[in-house]
Amino acid sequence: VGLELIGVPLAAGGAGDGAALGPAGLRLAGIAPALSALGHDVRDAGDVAPRASMIEDGAGRNGAEVAAWIGGVIDAGLNATSAGRMPVYMGGDHSLSAGSVNVSALTAEAAGRPLIVLWLDAHTDFNTPDTSPSGNIHGMPVAALTGEDGLGFLYRGSPRAQLRPDQFCLLGIRSVDREEARRLRAYGIEVMDMRRVDEHGMARLVSQVIARAEAENAMIHVSLDMDFIDPGLAPGVSTPVPGGANLREAHLAMEMLCDSGRVAALDIVELNLFEDERARTARLAVDLAASLFGRRIVAH
Ligand code: ARG
Ligand code: MN
Ligand code: MN
Ligand code: MN
Repeated sequence: VGLELIGVPLAAGGAGDGAALGPAGLRLAGIAPALSALGHDVRDAGDVAPRASMIEDGAGRNGAEVAAWIGGVIDAGLNATSAGRMPVYMGGDHSLSAGSVNVSALTAEAAGRPLIVLWLDAHTDFNTPDTSPSGNIHGMPVAALTGEDGLGFLYRGSPRAQLRPDQFCLLGIRSVDREEARRLRAYGIEVMDMRRVDEHGMARLVSQVIARAEAENAMIHVSLDMDFIDPGLAPGVSTPVPGGANLREAHLAMEMLCDSGRVAALDIVELNLFEDERARTARLAVDLAASLFGRRIVAH
């Protein structure tokens, strides 16, 4: 299939400003040639523009600004999927996924297919404006996507899909706020935390997700927050948490997802060039995207 690169230089949903350079970092680290070299027809759609101020209210920090960006993400994503192209969203902070996953759910719905969302992250991003200790909307996209009332403003003026909590699988988790943990239990969201990675291994956990997708004939939206990976390997993020996935675990997850043939879209988010060291995190992000789209150690 054709891949469509969609830049989202959005930082308003996070803590600092560095995430706005994420798309530039991924381009300079060679994401387009890396994916073209794997035989894909790659088109760079450029950067999304925020929709002209749609709302004046909102909630959380920079709510109206984030909503305008999410509107732009939805427009660009639907533009790609309606042309039969697979979106690769280059963030930008993780609030953009409130838009990108919505696009995948709408597109799957139109095709009569279920969607599973694999959220690779140190954090569960299930806060609401009421529970968030920071007010940052990048800590809330999973709540927005599962229909949290206080975040409906993010979708004003856009078609909105219905996503159930059981369509999400959060993997790599090691930082959950207190009220967030209570809400995760109440909604029954599947959390595969780092303890489960240690006890069962990455291969088993990713196999379970893929097996479920096969049983349901579902597509998989992969939302990769770069803080999923251990900050020793990926320092260029805004909210690092020690104890993350190592290089082989992260590549293995991508390779297995590639082999499943069920990937519907990819988000690469939270790359923060201000925090990066000699572009290691940007380069790692490109290598992981390459593994997801078919790079192999040996052909088979
Ligand atoms: N749980 C914290 C908060 O709500 C951190 C969220 C970090 N999210 C992210 N996408 N990096 O502020
Ligand atoms: Mn996140
Ligand atoms: Mn995170
Ligand atoms: Mn294989």
